[in-house]
Amino acid sequence: MLRKLYTKKDIAGAVKRLARSIERDFPGEEILFVCLLKGSFMFTSDLVRNIRNPSKIDFMRVSSYGKAMKSGGKITVTKDLEEDVEGKNIIVVEDIIDSGLTLKSISDMLKSRNPKTFKICALIDKKVRREVDVEGDYVGFTIEDGFVVGYGIDYAEQYRNYPEIYVVEENRNEKH
Ligand code: IMP
Ligand code: MG
Repeated sequence: MLRKLYTKKDIAGAVKRLARSIERDFPGEEILFVCLLKGSFMFTSDLVRNIRNPSKIDFMRVSSYGKAMKSGGKITVTKDLEEDVEGKNIIVVEDIIDSGLTLKSISDMLKSRNPKTFKICALIDKKVRREVDVEGDYVGFTIEDGFVVGYGIDYAEQYRNYPEIYVVEENRNEKH
């Protein structure tokens, strides 16, 4: 069962707020946005449409092994960037920070390529679930535990096309 968590309006508001703070931090500077596939494709496309800086967009895909609802910790790059990172303002755009393991590996990897600046922009932060030290510099929503889908975010590849964000709830036969 899906319960609506954020409407189109909530999302548009968050995206605009994030875009304004990015513009404030990088006045007139070029930014290379790194869209982490697949989950952040929709978020990235809305975010960059709201940013007036000279911008480049590139894509990266990593896979982690583990249970469907939890990332496993081991990460392999299945599609690397085509753009050079060295000397550039990098903003990694991610759908969700959960344990932080995915972004920690990506941050370490991209920072070793000597960017000028390195920031993380995440739509959703599940702060209480963090297992490693990584923080979003720009965060849309902070939530407690719970599995979310929609707006690019999937459960077993389903629901990415939904324009709003939902929480997946277990079906309960008994009512309390
Ligand atoms: P982390 O490595 O534990 O921080 O996990 C981050 C990745 O796990 C995200 O990029 C998502 O792909 C996935 N993930 C974490 N929480 C959710 C969720 O609630 N819904 C869908 N995917 C999630
Ligand atoms: Mg992901």
